[in-house]
Amino acid sequence: MDSSKIKRYTVTAALPYTNGPVHIGHLAGVYIPADIYARFLRSNKRDVKFVCGSDENGVPITLKAKKEGVSPQVVVDKYHKIIGDSFRDFGISFDIYHRTSSQMHHQTAADFFSTLYEKGVFTEEVTEQYYDEKAQSFLADRYIVGTCPKCGNENAYGDQCESCGSSLNATDLINPKSTLSGEPPVLKKTKNWFLPLDKYEDQLRTYIDGHREWKPNVFGQCQSWLNAGLQPRAMTRDLDWGIKVPVKDAEGKVLYVWFDAPIGYISATKELFEYSRLDVWNPKADEYYINQNELEKGSWEDYWKSDETKLVHFIGKDNIVFHCIIFPAMLMAHGGYTLADNVPANEFLNLEGQKISTSKNWAVWLNEYLVEFKDKQDVLRYVLTATAPETKDNDFTWKDFQARNNNELVAILGNFVNRVVVLTHKYFDGKVPMCMKLTPEDQQVIDELQAYPAKVSASIENYRFREALSEVMNVARLGNKYLADTEPWKVIKRDEDRVRTILNISLQIAATLEILIEPFMPFTADKLMKMLNYGGHQWESAGRMDLLHRGHQLNEPVLLFEKIEDEVVQAQIDKLNATKTANEAAVAAEVTPAKPNIDFEAFSAVDIRVATIVAAEKVEKTKKLLKLTLDTGIDQRTVVSGIAEFFKPEEIIGQQVSLVVNLAPREIKGIVSQGMILMSENADGKLTFVAPLQQHNNGSVVR
Ligand code: MF3
Ligand code: ZN
Repeated sequence: MDSSKIKRYTVTAALPYTNGPVHIGHLAGVYIPADIYARFLRSNKRDVKFVCGSDENGVPITLKAKKEGVSPQVVVDKYHKIIGDSFRDFGISFDIYHRTSSQMHHQTAADFFSTLYEKGVFTEEVTEQYYDEKAQSFLADRYIVGTCPKCGNENAYGDQCESCGSSLNATDLINPKSTLSGEPPVLKKTKNWFLPLDKYEDQLRTYIDGHREWKPNVFGQCQSWLNAGLQPRAMTRDLDWGIKVPVKDAEGKVLYVWFDAPIGYISATKELFEYSRLDVWNPKADEYYINQNELEKGSWEDYWKSDETKLVHFIGKDNIVFHCIIFPAMLMAHGGYTLADNVPANEFLNLEGQKISTSKNWAVWLNEYLVEFKDKQDVLRYVLTATAPETKDNDFTWKDFQARNNNELVAILGNFVNRVVVLTHKYFDGKVPMCMKLTPEDQQVIDELQAYPAKVSASIENYRFREALSEVMNVARLGNKYLADTEPWKVIKRDEDRVRTILNISLQIAATLEILIEPFMPFTADKLMKMLNYGGHQWESAGRMDLLHRGHQLNEPVLLFEKIEDEVVQAQIDKLNATKTANEAAVAAEVTPAKPNIDFEAFSAVDIRVATIVAAEKVEKTKKLLKLTLDTGIDQRTVVSGIAEFFKPEEIIGQQVSLVVNLAPREIKGIVSQGMILMSENADGKLTFVAPLQQHNNGSVVR
């Protein structure tokens, strides 16, 4: 977008589902980058609205409600509060944190749908969907489990198999079962309204092709969707939780959550400008980040319907198609809306080498972090920015967290600021000394300093926040190097005027640092601002040499960061290890489900005998197989058995076993195997023999 045209910015951050608290993955992927961007724009005096809210509709919510045994409303109220509090506590500076259960949102989303409906955009299609007759309810994909046709996992969901990662259709599942009643579902006809994405393909292609500057992961995903050809997609669902479909003959149907949620950005912006919030829902519980008494001037439409507005969506990579294809198609179909100028989606953050998982409790929850690391929001903000998964998945580890705190925040940034302020107090009663004659060395440092703000700006404007942050830290490094080179603590003995200059310059560097760190570490910036006793936060002033005037009184030094000790991070690692152990125990305790009944005939058809292993050798070129010779009492025979990982051949000679002797012979690796040895398999995969407890004659019948 032509930057001279930009008058204002609308910055959105993905609306989190209110089905659990938020964790470091959310923060690193979406909310911190979005917040850095919004704060940076404000510091540059740009007009920006930064909007977000809770995503409270859809299946994720009803599933959680079912699991907790409460109503969906209880679930959304609980997590809306927890999530909103976390964002506030971490300084995520939304202009509004809204919610999609609000009246304003319901109305806005329903109106949007009606407009498309009246314009004849939708097609009506009757399809067959799974229906639970006992529960009298259509079943969303997540409410159906069955066997994955790709890998045989018996607990695959109707939309995805979490075992092999395949995305599925509910009708692909073998032996599908409803999770509501446990019954097999039946197919039943139902009518829904579809958005014919295929009709917008050309427009979408033009739009996407016009944005080659997008991150390669985002641009690439869009291209592959377009190249695969777009299909009409249902915008309504047979569900009872959500926004009622506002047309005739739509009983029991709600808007598809991915239709209503992005409209949440619009309704949140509207809420900022309109009064409805005051009379529709409990303002105390709902209002975050709203200037309560004053409505914004201007109109929400300026932020959504003007080509002078730059719209940027911050999201995680699993949301790309919804923000780059489906939502733009909705906006095109509606008409009058601005499309996003950029969608800087991030990849995923792992935790200690493992995928973050809510259900496995493999996460660092923000609300819990703050209990243990009170007032250390910026340490986490810093670490998550420095390791943000901007171009590939990345890993958060507690050791790295500690190292970055101790070696970077404490040793570089904190150390520089502390030394400057302490020395100024020591030599000049905390008053900014006058800058005297500059040496070439001083001039060089000043020149270097003055190049940084533009570098940092360019990185932020191009959504490269890691790079921006490392440039900011270079400013602190520059300051440290300057102090180390000039050694004011030595020079003070012979040349006080020289020290005045050195500290004046160092203090200006500290003041510039306050401006530059603010988007990244707002709490620390505030502390520093108080210490320097000045206004701060004005990006255009960064690098200036007169930020702090001669004679200006500083406040007492306070430490910006403290060292984090080994025990503290070890406690966090221990906590995760305990989680891992508990998860493993839970897996081990999982019992394979019972097979269907068989009759006695079927059972007695199986001929099982006691037999003794008389010879054993490895089957060549295999890892798992042993070739065994067994004395069955009836005969001596060969059996190939997959137990080589657990038993050495020489160990099992003489071992009695139970053997199925009437299994049809099978050829395995060129050897004819006549029977099968009964083994018991533990949940961890370990095998042991099932054999008589006392020595029995070979050929004894097992029944
Ligand atoms: N709730 C969705 C998720 O967590 C994100 C919704 S983004 C919006 O994946 F655009 F729909 F709001
Ligand atoms: Zn599978």
